[in-house]
Parts: sequence; structure tokens; C-alpha cells
Amino acid sequence: MNDRTAQPIGVFDSGIGGLTVVRSLLRHLPHENIVYFGDTARVPYGSKSPQVVREYTLQDTDVLLKHNVKMIVVACNTVSAVALDVVQKRAGAGTPVMGVILPGATAAVAATRNKRIGIIGTQGTIASRSYTNAIRELDPAVEVFGQACPLFVPLAEEGWTDHKATELIAREYLHPLVQQKVDTVVLACTHYPILSEVIQRIVPPAVRLIDSGEATGHAVAELLGRSGELNPSTLAPNLQFFVSDIPYKFTEVGERFLGARLGRVQRVGGLG
Ligand code: DGL
Repeated sequence: MNDRTAQPIGVFDSGIGGLTVVRSLLRHLPHENIVYFGDTARVPYGSKSPQVVREYTLQDTDVLLKHNVKMIVVACNTVSAVALDVVQKRAGAGTPVMGVILPGATAAVAATRNKRIGIIGTQGTIASRSYTNAIRELDPAVEVFGQACPLFVPLAEEGWTDHKATELIAREYLHPLVQQKVDTVVLACTHYPILSEVIQRIVPPAVRLIDSGEATGHAVAELLGRSGELNPSTLAPNLQFFVSDIPYKFTEVGERFLGARLGRVQRVGGLG
């Protein structure tokens, strides 16, 4: 069998939001090489139809497969919700694929005490009911309440983490979940961990927030450990970042999401 341990983990997202998932991967797997692709030219995916998201997903997967990745992490909740099978099929049996939904759903089911879980995400993620189905499969007794929060994505990118407008909007979005007395809320979008402080201030203090990206970092570490494909290197990893566009404020926003310096970012042309 080939030694694939040093091959990179491929990660993709609709844009730069997936860097919050890379941040979690680096915490759990500090020596893994990573190739990241963000489709910044076509973001957001969360408001687009499943059909279009599936078309884009195929192209995003091909970008990563060119880099000889040992596995693919679908950082985007929207893609994980409506197109995980597209990635799995394209990658083939030899390249494992991990989305964010099962790890997030598993962590939420483990956290809830009253079996009432709220899911906040993009319109696409909530409409797909993917989290609801995954949670109900793990525990049919859990009640799940979904709430789309489309304005959270631009607010997180704008860096309005502690702003009156964000608090007002968050109150509006979270009110139905508070009324349903959920004790656990899944941050089912790459951007929402950036807003976790304001979200935690609005929900009752006992409510647990589950970061699906964080849960995914943990799940990826377990998967690679089980398959014997952890990189044995103790050196700093090679991190490569590719995007389909470099928009204004890209580096500033990207570094805030990653929690570290981004380094060189290369543009991939010719998508779509
Ligand atoms: N990355 C997306 C997600 O996690 C959020 C941004 C978008 O709508 O594309 O669902």
C-alpha cells in the first residue's frame, strides 16, 4: 500500500468561511498538510438552488483532486447539506470524504439534555433538513427546530461581531428558537463561530452552542487515526490556499476566520 500520510488533506468551501474549519483542523491535527480551495468568485452558495450548488461542487472537488489529496473535508455546510454525494462520487472509494453535518449532529445529540435542538444556517442548509434528518437518525426522540440566518454571513465578514445591528438581527433570528426552549444550538454555517459571543449573549446562558466545524476537526483526526493515515511529521505543515477570486479585504477577513496569518494565496481561474 502507498504511504499517503504526507499527502495533504483537501478542504473546500464556497468562500473563505471554511477557514474556520481549517482553524479547527490545525488545532486537532497540527502537522497535517492542507490544501484549501474557496470559491470566492461565486460565494454565497447558501441562497442558491441545490442544483447550482451541486454543479459548483463538482468543479470544486476537481480543484482539490488535482492536488493528490488523501481525503476531502467539505467545510461548507450548504454543500455538505445538498451535495455531499457529488463529492463522494467524484472522489471515488479511495479518497474518504467528510462533511460537517454528521459531526455537528453527533455533537449536538451528545450535548442536549431536554432533546430540543436548534439549527441555524443558510437558507439552503435549513431547507434541506439535512441536520434534522441526521439528528433524528441518531436519536428519533429529539425535536429539531431550524432557523435560516442569511444576514449573519455578511455581518461576520464585515467583522461586526460586537455591533448593535448584529445584536438586533440576532435577537430577531434567535427568538423562535428561544421560544421553543431548545437547550442546544448548532452553528451550522462556517461563518457563525465568528458571531458566537453575540449569539451566546442572546440565548439563555444554559444553552450550549455546537460549532460544527470544531466537531469536524475532531472527527477528521479520529478518521485518519483509525485508517493509519496521520502524518507522522513533527514539522510545521505545508498550508496552501487557493481561491477563485481575491476580493477586497480578502486577507483581513481570511486571517480573522483562520485566526492566523494566511500567507500566499493563489487564484485558480477557469471555473464554470
Ligand atoms: N460556507 C457557507 C456555509 O457554511 C456559508 C456562506 C455561503 O452561503 O456560501 O453554509
